[in-house]
Amino acid sequence: MAKLIGPKKVKTAVFISGTGSNLKNLIKFSKIKSSPVSIDLIFSNNSKAKGLNFSGQFNIKKYVSNLKNSKLAETKILDLLKKENIKFICLAGFMKILSKSFIKNFNGKIINIHPSLLPKYKGLNTHTKAIQNKDKITGCTVHFVTAKLDSGKIILQKKIKIFKKDTPATLAKKVLKREHKLYPAAIKKVFN
Ligand code: GAR
Repeated sequence: MAKLIGPKKVKTAVFISGTGSNLKNLIKFSKIKSSPVSIDLIFSNNSKAKGLNFSGQFNIKKYVSNLKNSKLAETKILDLLKKENIKFICLAGFMKILSKSFIKNFNGKIINIHPSLLPKYKGLNTHTKAIQNKDKITGCTVHFVTAKLDSGKIILQKKIKIFKKDTPATLAKKVLKREHKLYPAAIKKVFN
């Protein structure tokens, strides 16, 4: 991926569905000199996503589509990404599955953060599953996105201890905090 780096930062879109704490963290990271990316577009499939507020706060373009008519909607997003010269996509709490053809258009250039130590606990409710299975360790993973859910090549992972007193909510909070360190580190690794 290093060949993407010139004197300018790589134009990047962040896809969200909810709170957007990872989005906010990536925007802040993108502003430091050593960041290989700039965040130039926020996309959400959910018009009520709190994270969309960061568009106004940081003066970044946003685009919303519920992806109901998925084929047409994805074509529109692809057109917009092309128009904005977006070369890289970070999924950050994006709860929709992108089609094979969308992913093909950005082959090797979409990454995702997931709140588990993949390949363990793909999909939803990762913290509940970890606690129910009495795991002693969980974590978070940044990986490349492929057509198979949560299965692309792993870029970085961080382990986090689970204590007896942990609930899915306390675990989610702890993991999210670590995600905010892991995602920028993974982006740096991708471009180095
Ligand atoms: C994060 O924990 C992220 O790993 C998870 O959603 C949360 C979003 O938080 N993503 C997934 O579960 C994707 N399968 P945020 O909106 O505050 O960044």
